[in-house]
Amino acid sequence: MWHPFTQQSKWVEDSPIVVDRAQGMYFWDTDGNRYLDGVSSLWVNVHGHCHPVINEAIRRQLERLDHTTFLGLTHEPGIELAEKLVATAPLGLTRAFFAGDGSSAVEAAIKMAYQAQAQRGENRPYFLHIAQGYHGDTLGAVSVGGIDLFHQTYRPIMLDTLMVSSPGVLDPGQSRLDRAGQVLAEMRELLNRRGSEVCAIVIEPLVQGAGGMLTHDASFVVGVRDLCDEFGALMVVDEVATGIGRTGKMWAVDHAGITPDLLTCGKGITAGYLPLSAVLATDAVYEAFLGTPAQARTFFHGHSYTANPLSAAAAVANLDLMESDQTVAHAAGVGEQLTRELKAVAELDGVVEVRQVGTMVGIEVASVGERTGFAVCQAARERGVWVRPLGDVVILMPPLAISSEQTTTLTSAVAEAIGDVLR
Ligand SMILES: Cc1ncc(COP(=O)(O)O)c(C=O)c1O
Repeated sequence: MWHPFTQQSKWVEDSPIVVDRAQGMYFWDTDGNRYLDGVSSLWVNVHGHCHPVINEAIRRQLERLDHTTFLGLTHEPGIELAEKLVATAPLGLTRAFFAGDGSSAVEAAIKMAYQAQAQRGENRPYFLHIAQGYHGDTLGAVSVGGIDLFHQTYRPIMLDTLMVSSPGVLDPGQSRLDRAGQVLAEMRELLNRRGSEVCAIVIEPLVQGAGGMLTHDASFVVGVRDLCDEFGALMVVDEVATGIGRTGKMWAVDHAGITPDLLTCGKGITAGYLPLSAVLATDAVYEAFLGTPAQARTFFHGHSYTANPLSAAAAVANLDLMESDQTVAHAAGVGEQLTRELKAVAELDGVVEVRQVGTMVGIEVASVGERTGFAVCQAARERGVWVRPLGDVVILMPPLAISSEQTTTLTSAVAEAIGDVLR
């Protein structure tokens, strides 16, 4: 086997957890050890593992329809999911296009934005994006990314794009509000010169997750909307990580009160069960694709498993459960508890910064060896808590439905692990 984002030479030396089963906020390895899933199985889990309602929805769907293509056919789970997504989306996002995972949603959004502009008679081949951004691992998504470690190797084979600084990387003593203004000014300067060539601005709203949970002020998101309107660019927000309640609101753009032209979502959409993602679009974008077949304005894009009925059924059950359990309000409460409990962590020796929006947390630790972040996560693992680092940033991203007691278990174990490694 060859694992994702894994240096195999180290992997074969380490002793990996072999996961056997999972229930609620925990999973168990084949030796019977229990771990709290502190990163929601890479930011996807919502209600906990093997939730009876989601399990039952998938089982019921399996008895009825496994899979048929969405090319030339449609089905109830797909229709129902589109309706529910659009109902929760910022006002004005009225169309749902399904894809397979976060990267493929971003890929679809990039092509959609380019084609919509082209079919309106605009020649705009450039995407404007942000340093430290991450949008997935396929080439279009990598092209609008900005993390050198992951992306630099592929520069020669990537799209030619325009990039500005990250609004989440502050000068010493700088406020997030000032930093937002500074990056917006940088964008404006670039757009003054190249604006007529820019197809879309692509951002992760509020939190640049894989960049190390770099957070920015909501005024940045508002400012990007304004710049897009002024310069005729489309606004693409990638809510694959921030969407579906993660930030304490259904969508991160809800904190800014704006509607983008295109919004990508994935990860938590199926409650962390099955791959599925979506691009939500405005009517204006959708209408740019309408015409006779001979005009070839069609969006020639799709996948074998687009809108897979099992995934769609899981997603419908997830959104229903989120409504009945008031999961987003619960997540906001989890976020507040994390803020309270992480105050003490921020004071620990060796902690550089704690960054947080809602249930998304990055604890940056000082580097005291080759893999300090990894060492902290290993120490947490010995305490029965599973978390994963991004370099020297320890990520906490629990399932939204985590209880108050389990949240404390998570923060205490990580605080003790930091003490072990950085004492
Ligand atoms: C903001 C963002 N976009 C896209 C992706 C890619 O999603 P996937 O791993 O499902 O392809 C991620 C994954 O972490 C992400 O955080």
